[in-house]
Amino acid sequence: MLIHSASQLLTLTKDSQRGDRLGELGIIPNGAVLINGETILETGTSADLLVRFRNEERLDASGCVLMPGFVDPHTHLVWAGDRAAEFEMRLQGKSYMEIMAAGGGIQSTVNATRAASFDDLLSQTRQKARRVFALGTTSAEAKSGYGLELKTEIKQLDVLLKLDTEGPLELFPTFLGAHAVPKEYQAHTNDYVTLICEKMLPELKWWWGANAQGRPLPFVDVFCEKGAFSLPQSRYILETAKALGFPLKIHADEFENLGGAALAAELGAISADHLVKTIMEDVRVLAASQTAAVSLPCTPFGLVEKEYTPAKELIQAGGLLALASDLNPGTAWCGNMQFVIALACRYMRLTPAQAVAAATINAAAAVGQAERLGSIHPGKQADLLVLSVSDYRHLAYQFGGNLVSKVIKKGKVYSQSELC
Ligand code: NIG
Ligand code: FE
Repeated sequence: MLIHSASQLLTLTKDSQRGDRLGELGIIPNGAVLINGETILETGTSADLLVRFRNEERLDASGCVLMPGFVDPHTHLVWAGDRAAEFEMRLQGKSYMEIMAAGGGIQSTVNATRAASFDDLLSQTRQKARRVFALGTTSAEAKSGYGLELKTEIKQLDVLLKLDTEGPLELFPTFLGAHAVPKEYQAHTNDYVTLICEKMLPELKWWWGANAQGRPLPFVDVFCEKGAFSLPQSRYILETAKALGFPLKIHADEFENLGGAALAAELGAISADHLVKTIMEDVRVLAASQTAAVSLPCTPFGLVEKEYTPAKELIQAGGLLALASDLNPGTAWCGNMQFVIALACRYMRLTPAQAVAAATINAAAAVGQAERLGSIHPGKQADLLVLSVSDYRHLAYQFGGNLVSKVIKKGKVYSQSELC
């Protein structure tokens, strides 16, 4: 298939973009992309490709931007229950961590997720997956973490494996058993940490081998935060996971700085996420490491807080900055990467080009997939978006809607009428 006549084809770079290089969109005006099956074969100008490839099926993208599908490297896609009442409590002055300490917050979603049947959880999650796909997210990381017991954590991961097989949204699962201390362990947190390390992680590894049909092991993530897991507890969990062969992620510096970002860099985690309260020293440590810095601007926005990730400093220090939604029922009920870009430009002062690169090629790097996903180059998977606008900057300029008119996943074209 030849997709042609795009007003702007954003190829981006083959590899991720560190530091000042962030924002290289590789724009080809009047661009065209040749696809064979699931793979990109060639990119160039329409003038050239239309002459050389005359017999291929064609898709006319006149007046439209053609760009890589969004990769969302941090979501909590699988949950049951509803926390709208909590949102109202927060508006009335209760803090997120106060609600959590009083047994609400994550624990309330845990209760509902434990109670949900597999089929119910599958259909609720499928709905969310379809919605974010229609918004242009062609691949997403997705976490467990609303079970806090192996049975329910595995139920969540099983839902993700099923949905990944079903498509079209491609999913990269993460085990987040260390999302909160469950109510059964409130008085003895360390016992829960021991349970994760000595039982859950080894059993998960066994279950994955038997059920994940050869997929690589999932990421292991920890909510390193006062009121969740301390730095030594996070270290113990992540070191145990690493020794078992799991790749690592961390929730760091969302509300307070405990040193989680530096821990992620030290352990070679694939990413450190949130990074709102990150001090300059840790910004430099992270920037000098291979660990991606994932910023989630929907979270401070959703929590009505003023501080965001020090993105400019991270870029200046040479870091690898990615953007994600954090889609979850507590802090950010939003899986719209277009809105994430709009927020990142306004509150973190990224240029539209930097935000687009952070939501595509760098987001792919934050899930270890930059070789296959995140940009439009020969050999990469054909995951593309056709936008209803002719200038990519509208992704940042407009907000709150959906500028994606067609989603192409593994070479298959989905138009909005089929998606909604
Ligand atoms: O990334 N901070 C921890 N996890 C989520 C919130 C989860 C929830 O409140 O249900 C986050 O913000
Ligand atoms: Fe999160």
